[in-house]
Amino acid sequence: QDTGCLSIVVLGASGDLAKKKTFPALYNLYRQGFIQSSEVHIFGYARTKISDDELRNRIRGYLIHGKESSSQDEDLSKFLQLIKYVNGSYDGEEGFRLLDKEISEHEISKNSHGGTSRRLFYLALPPSVYPSVSKMIRNYCMNKSDLGGWTRIVVEKPFGKDLDSAEELSSELGELFDEKQIYRIDHYLGKELVQNLLVLRFANRFFLPLWNRDNIANVQIVFREDFGTEGRGGYFDEYGIIRDIIQNHLLQVLCLVAMEKPVSLRPEHIRDEKVKVLQSVLPISMEEVVLGQYEGYKDDSTVSDQSNTPTFATVVLRIHNERWEGVPFILKAGKALNSRKADIRVQFKDVPGDIFKCKKQGRNEFVIRLQPKEAMYMKLTVKQPGLEMSTIQSELDLSYGQRYQDVSIPEAYERLILDTIRGDQQHFVRRDELKAAWEIFTPMLHKIDEGELKPLPYKPGSRGPAEADELLAKAGYVQTHGY
Ligand code: BG6
Repeated sequence: QDTGCLSIVVLGASGDLAKKKTFPALYNLYRQGFIQSSEVHIFGYARTKISDDELRNRIRGYLIHGKESSSQDEDLSKFLQLIKYVNGSYDGEEGFRLLDKEISEHEISKNSHGGTSRRLFYLALPPSVYPSVSKMIRNYCMNKSDLGGWTRIVVEKPFGKDLDSAEELSSELGELFDEKQIYRIDHYLGKELVQNLLVLRFANRFFLPLWNRDNIANVQIVFREDFGTEGRGGYFDEYGIIRDIIQNHLLQVLCLVAMEKPVSLRPEHIRDEKVKVLQSVLPISMEEVVLGQYEGYKDDSTVSDQSNTPTFATVVLRIHNERWEGVPFILKAGKALNSRKADIRVQFKDVPGDIFKCKKQGRNEFVIRLQPKEAMYMKLTVKQPGLEMSTIQSELDLSYGQRYQDVSIPEAYERLILDTIRGDQQHFVRRDELKAAWEIFTPMLHKIDEGELKPLPYKPGSRGPAEADELLAKAGYVQTHGY
C-alpha cells in the first residue's frame, strides 16, 4: 500500500495556509527524500486562473529559507517542476473531472510497470466548502486502480462552530468517506514536545507515581502570541480564541497530559484514552472563565464595531475521574500579549511538614515549553551554595537547542503530512474526539455568541486582563520565582 504512484492534491492552492504551511512542508519532505520524484506528483487546485509557473512563482518565496546553495537551488527547481496547477470551482464537476484526468495521466506515466495508486487530497480551504469539495472528490477523483492503493482527505480546523454544526459536517463527510480515510489535522499534535508527552509520562519511572491528584496541585496549558489578528480579522472575528486555539490545540494537549496509559501505541488505543478524558470533563463553570479583547482589535476594518469576540481567554476545566478530581486544568490563550510562547506547567503541591520553610521559594514545577526554543525544566528547591543553610529555587534544564544541537526539529505540518501518506492516524482527531471537544465548549460559546458573556478590555502587549491572574490564584496556582 505504501509504494506506487502518489498524487498529492492541495485544494485552495493559492491560499495562505497552502503557501505558508502545506507547500513548505511538502518541500521539506521532498528534500529529505520522504517523497520522491520517481513516484510523486503534486497538484494545486483553486479557483484563480493562473498557470503552472505562476503558482510555482507564488510559492517559491515561501520555500526559500535564506541564502540557498546551488544544490539547494537545484532541489527547489526540481521540486517546483513536480507541481502542476488545475483550475476549477469547488462545487462544479468540470474542474474535478479535469483534476481526475490529470491525476490519471500521471498515474499511467508513473505506473507503467504496474503499481498501486495513492491519492491524497489536502483541503486547505474554509470549512464551508468541505461538503461540496468532498462530494466532488468522491464522485470524480477516487483511486480506481485495480492494483490497490487508497484515497485520503485531510481537513483543517475550524471543523464546525459548535457541537451541532460540527456533527452535521462530520455526518456529511461520514457519508462520503470512511473514518480511516479522513485525517483531521490539529497541527499542535505534530509539535516535537507534544509528541514527546506520551514518552515522558509513560517511559519514566519518575513521573508514574507523581502524576495524580495526590501530588499535582494544578496544570496550566498556556498559549500566547505577541501579535494581534492583523490580516485575519474577518476569519478570527467569526471564531474567536476559544474556537481558534483552546477547543482544539490546547484541549488536545490536555488530553495527552491527563489520559491514562493506552493499551498500546496503536492509534485507536491512544485515541480511545483521549476520548475518555474529554468525556470526563465537567461542564465549565462561568465563574471560572475570564475573557478578554485587546484594545484596538475593532479598529480592523474586517471586524465588526460591535464585536463581542474574545481574543483572550482563561478557562478552568475540571476532570471528574479518580486521577484528577480536584485538580484544576487551566487553559489560557491570547493574542496581542507580551510574548510568544506556548507551555505546559505542572505545579506540584507543597511539601508536607516543610522543615526548611521553603514554601516562600515556591513549589516544584515541571514545565514543558512547546515553543519557541523547545525545552523542559523542573523547578527544584536546592541549598543555596555557600556557607549558609538557606534554600533557593533552581532548574534542572533540558533545552533542546543545547542538548540536541545537530538535530533540526521538524515542522509540525511536515510530520503530519508524512503520517497521512503512511496511513498513521495517531496524531489526528477522531470523530468522537471532536464531538466530545465541542460538547465541552459549546454552552459557553453560545453564551458568548449571544452576548451574555463579555470580554474585558486589555492593553496590547500586556499579560491580558488582570482578572485572569486573579482566577489563576483562586484556582490555586502559586507564582514561583525564576523563569
Ligand atoms: C492556528 C491559529 O491554528 O495556530 C492561529 O488559527 C495561530 O491563530 C496558530 O496563530 C499558532 O500556531 P503556532 O504553531 O505558531 O503556535
